[in-house]
Parts: sequence; structure tokens; C-alpha cells
Amino acid sequence: MKRTLIKDTVNNIGQEVKVMGWANNIRTHGKIIFLDLRDISGTLQVVFAADKNSKLMERAKELKPEYVIEITGEVNQRPKGTENPDLLTGNIELLAKELKILSPAKTLPFSIDGDGYDISEEKRLKYRYLDLRRSRLKKNLKLRQEVIHFVRDFLKSKGFFEIETPILTKSTPEGARDFLVPSRLQPGKFYALPQSPQQYKQLLMVAGFEKYFQIARCFRDEDPRADRQAEFTQIDMELSFVSQEDILALIEEMMIEAVKNVFPKKHISQTPFPRLQYKEAMEKYGSDRPDLRKDKKDQDELAFAFIIDFPMFEWSEEEKRWKSVHHPFTRPQTEDIAEIKNNPEKILAYQYDLVLNGYEIGGGSLRSYKKEMLEAVFEVMGHTKSEIKEKFGHLLEAFDYGVPPHGGIALGLDRLVSLLLNEPNIREVIAFPKTGDSRDLMMNAPSEVSKEQLKELCLEIKKPKKEH
Ligand code: AMO
Repeated sequence: MKRTLIKDTVNNIGQEVKVMGWANNIRTHGKIIFLDLRDISGTLQVVFAADKNSKLMERAKELKPEYVIEITGEVNQRPKGTENPDLLTGNIELLAKELKILSPAKTLPFSIDGDGYDISEEKRLKYRYLDLRRSRLKKNLKLRQEVIHFVRDFLKSKGFFEIETPILTKSTPEGARDFLVPSRLQPGKFYALPQSPQQYKQLLMVAGFEKYFQIARCFRDEDPRADRQAEFTQIDMELSFVSQEDILALIEEMMIEAVKNVFPKKHISQTPFPRLQYKEAMEKYGSDRPDLRKDKKDQDELAFAFIIDFPMFEWSEEEKRWKSVHHPFTRPQTEDIAEIKNNPEKILAYQYDLVLNGYEIGGGSLRSYKKEMLEAVFEVMGHTKSEIKEKFGHLLEAFDYGVPPHGGIALGLDRLVSLLLNEPNIREVIAFPKTGDSRDLMMNAPSEVSKEQLKELCLEIKKPKKEH
């Protein structure tokens, strides 16, 4: 007999089915054992009754929570008054006729019944595969994938190409430290993991794709926080021949439709999304990611806003140099190169952030596509001519071969989904997140490597500083 998914058993009343899954909850009442069987589609009450099959009843007594089992039995209506309206299968139960234990299970290190917030991070992440059995996390990952599916369909319908870009690459400045990967074939040289696909997506515009997107993994060696992981995911986009407003309008439409489709209970405070100048936001709210909800206690209110007209540069006291507020590829609002070099503090940029309930969930800009402009920006940031050539020569060279005006944006998928789900930490919407100090406790990463591996890479490890 073929397996039936639990959600489909409601269509099999009076028939025999075979179901498979985990023993969720076992309750023994004298001559009857009730067991909730759980699979990916739902849970089903299974009944073992001594008066119907005493041998089977004896075997059922061996069952413990989280055993993986196969049960064949008859789907029946539940006796009147014992229905459970909260369950999809609340009107039926399965009278077991055969039982196969597919694999036993030890007692779990923690309960998977509740929401799990009270269990320590260390434990939850060490046994993440068990934590993920929790219905809250199943729901989170289900809605995350629905957002991804929605975005894919939406962008496809708008003529976007989905294109993957390399993970082993060269550093692109996004303001964080790079993760480096030593090269075996080029000893002494390193790849950098991408902080974002920024330069690749611009090069795809030079290549003529015009509309690109990617559900892109990004890596930034920075200290994790509730809304930050060293490894995270962006909905990354780039478009040619567009204005800033074209991009904002597209993102606005995508967000409104995504909420309507995936989170229909949520309501958006204001459409069109307010567009606030950076200066205005700082003066009025003291923040470039103001929380514009009308009622901050309302769990279902979504206050989106675009922050626009950011300054191009900010002075870094620490490094005693001008840094770009977004990244150096952003297009200044003036074409006057002398003005950019003489008064960098006055220059505004075609840069925009998307803010939701007080969090920055996206950022992007129109890009400098004129070589002289890009060179001027690098110069203001203190790069010498030879540094510019060494670090960004490939991009500047590409711009010699016919580059369309272009711009883009990247949304932080983890942040977006965690806000839509009212989760306090982006970890709750990532299948395998890292701890507060960026360790993967389940895989035990990072970890030491063998002497042979180091030798192959021509690397030597100096004794690391003792941890306190
Ligand atoms: P930016 O650096 O603003 O722009 O990143 C875009 C969005 O990504 C999210 N984000 C993060 N989410 C989780 N953990 C992190 N460590 C983290 N860092 C950023 C934020 C942010 O708004 N290449 C440009 C985009 C562009 O110009 O098109 C970029 O990466 O929600």
C-alpha cells in the first residue's frame, strides 16, 4: 500500500491507509493508547485498542515519543463530542491495524511542543534538527519559502533573469570585514566570500541582461546581533535604464503584493509608502530608520517607508578619511566632479533604504556608470590611482565597453521575514543560523584543520591568543 500524507487522510473515511511519521504524544488510558502521529502535513490521532487487537496493543506499549513509525489502519469518524476543531484532522482518527517501528528515538534534550523561546540558544542550535521539529519553526520556514516563491514569480512576470553569481570571489566593499578563503592552486592568494553580489550584478548590466535578481547568500565578518548574521540572504536586484522612482515603485508593488498573498492578515499603514529625505528623517525622528507605525502595540501593522537623498560621504574620525555612506558605486546627485572633490560633505547620493517598523530591510542606489565619476569617488575616499586600478580595474574596464545607466537594491530576506512573522531574532527564520559569536554548534564550525591541509595551502597558524 502507498503512503498517505496525514492531511489527505480526511478524504479516506471508512478506508484503510498507511501513514508514516513521528510519534508526537502518547497517552495510555488502560486498554486504549492514543498517539498523535506527526508528518510534514499535519498530525493525526491514532488509536490502539486492546479489544480490537491485543497483540498490537502490546507492541504499541513499546512506543516512545519521537519514534519514527509506519501505521496501517482504518480512518474513522471520531466519536461525537471528542472532535478537535483546531485540527485539520480533528474529526477523524486512525484505528491502528499494523505497526512498524522504522527507527527508535532517545529522549530529546528539550521539549519541542512549545515555542521554545525559553530554551537556551546553545541547546537549540546544537540540536537544530530537533528544534526545527517545532511547529513554530516549521511555520516560519514555510512562510519564508512562500515569500521566496512569491518574489520569484513576481520578478519573473516582470521580465527579470535569475542569475547565480560566484561565492569564491574578490572583496567588494560593503563596509564589513571579508571572510577569506585561501587558494591551494595560487598559494599565498585568497578569495573573498561576497559581502554582496554588487559588482557582479553591475557587470550583468554591462552584459545586457537589463533586469537581474538573485536570492543571494552574503557573508560579512561582523558581530551578529538580533537582526544580523555573518551569513545572510538578500533578494538582490539590478536594473538598467531606470530612474530611482522606477525602482522604488517596483519594490513598493512587490511588497504590497507579497503581503497580500503571503500575509493577508497584515495591514500596511500607508500607501504609497512615504518617501522621507534622510535629513528630514534625522531631524524629525532622530533616526534614518524611523518606526512609523500608528499603533506600536499592533502586531499586524506594517509601516514601510523609503528613506532617500542620503549623503554620499561620511567622515571617519577613526580612519581620518571620507567613506561612502552606502558603497562607492553609488551615483552622486551632481555631475560636477570638482564639486565632489572639493565639498564631499555637501554631496547627496541617489541612495535609498527601505524601512519597515523601525528596521532597515533594504538598501540600494543608482550607480555611477561614468568612469570619471567613479574614479573621483574613489579618490575622495583616499584610494590612490594604482589602488583603484588594482581593486576595481575590472569594473572600470568593463565600463569602457558600453555600460547602460543602471541601479538596484537588495532586500534583507531574513529581516523582512522575521518582521512579517513578529519574530524577535532573524535566527528564528533561518534553518541553520549561527550563535551570537558566529559558531555553528551543530557542525562544530569553525574548527581546526589538519596539518596536511595547511601545508597544501602554504599556511602556518601562529598560536592564537588565549581566550578569556
Ligand atoms: P546593504 O549593505 O544595505 O546593501 O544590504 C542590503 C540589506 O541586507 C540586509 N543586511 C543584513 N541582514 C542580515 N544580516 C546582516 N549582517 C546584514 N547586512 C545587511 C539589510 C540591508 O538593508 N549591495 C548593496 C545593495 C545595492 O546597492 O543594490 C547591499 O548589500 O536588510
